[in-house]
Amino acid sequence: MYDVEKIRQDFPMITNHPELIYFDNGATTYKPKKVIDAVNSFYTDFTSNVERGDYETAIKADKAYDHTREVIGRLINCDSREVAFFSNITSALNQVVYGLSKLFKKGDTVLLTQAEHASNLLPWFRLKEEQGINIAYIPLDKQGRIDLSDFEKCIDETVKAVSVAYVTNVLGSVQPLKEMISICQKHGILSVVDAAQAIGHRKVDVKDLGCDFLCFSSHKMCGPDGAGVMYGRYELIKDMPPLLLGGGMNARFNNDGTIIYKDAPQRFEAGTPNIEGVIGLSAAAEYLMDIGLDSIHEHELKLRAYLLDKMLKLDNIEIYNPDDISGPLTFNVKDVFAQDAAGYLAVNNVCVRSGNHCAKILHNIIGTDQSIRASLYLYNTEAEADRFAELVSKIDLNSAVGIFF
Ligand code: ALA
Repeated sequence: MYDVEKIRQDFPMITNHPELIYFDNGATTYKPKKVIDAVNSFYTDFTSNVERGDYETAIKADKAYDHTREVIGRLINCDSREVAFFSNITSALNQVVYGLSKLFKKGDTVLLTQAEHASNLLPWFRLKEEQGINIAYIPLDKQGRIDLSDFEKCIDETVKAVSVAYVTNVLGSVQPLKEMISICQKHGILSVVDAAQAIGHRKVDVKDLGCDFLCFSSHKMCGPDGAGVMYGRYELIKDMPPLLLGGGMNARFNNDGTIIYKDAPQRFEAGTPNIEGVIGLSAAAEYLMDIGLDSIHEHELKLRAYLLDKMLKLDNIEIYNPDDISGPLTFNVKDVFAQDAAGYLAVNNVCVRSGNHCAKILHNIIGTDQSIRASLYLYNTEAEADRFAELVSKIDLNSAVGIFF
């Protein structure tokens, strides 16, 4: 039985700030005490570097850091050696694109969508500039969704990779990934998944999806900031060149300038990593798995439907993703600049994101580059949705305020 009130007690940001309605989970999530305790324990009980020390606390840190690979392996159904740590999904996706760049030649195509976040576009844009690859966009409907038959029409012999978000960050469109990836496999096309907005919200199973790469950030799934994951199928990452070079990722280097890399995944982790972040990430993954990803997803679906029902009754707003059954609710108050409306909500203790949400070509699909996004998570409640809809109903040109703090 899903007990949201009990779950709320796990989050100090909620118990310390009961006045806040936090609907900005697409940007980052609150952290449960279990995660904060795991980070604290590293700082207070066994601070050391990893993979460098031979003393007791260093060995404890090594074990805790590497244990996260196993926990993530359980979370997404992969082998622990297929899990590499980065500082966030952005750095993980940059590694994927750099690593694959040697496989691309001038005229090869990557398929993307106009709903992608900057981190899944700009690394590919650089490959276009530097190596002359083609960027092509898979058509989307008005709510940012891919239709499989449209996708199939994009495939030709130049397509080498497809890189898309599982759940997009503005409209929350859930793409038909499994079917898309199965089409990719038939054509020998590589698949890269941005799972930033899916991870921790639903079960994500890389074997079931069949994807080659899948990346995400820790802070979007109740974990610490500054940690991210690249999953890569082992055959693909075992010889993949690392983007960052330095200590920790090399087995040896010589006077003549030759470098022998460590095996994957350590070859991708140059420099001292975010040890506390990675340790906190396993606490977050365990916390979410204990509650159950299916239960969390079901809670979000119900709550989103509840909020949508309230919002559809308001005649002062335009909703951009009314048909999507999951993800955030994205809208504008008619005639009111999104940030002014968000300012009104902010002074009433409601946290949402407004603006273009780092998806700066999405306006081609929804016709506006400014919107308000209400993104929900496992600890949000119907009472919060009631208050939210009530506040939104009051926003007009006179009530909206610029953000002044
Ligand atoms: N990518 C994050 C968002 O969508 C920051 O808000």
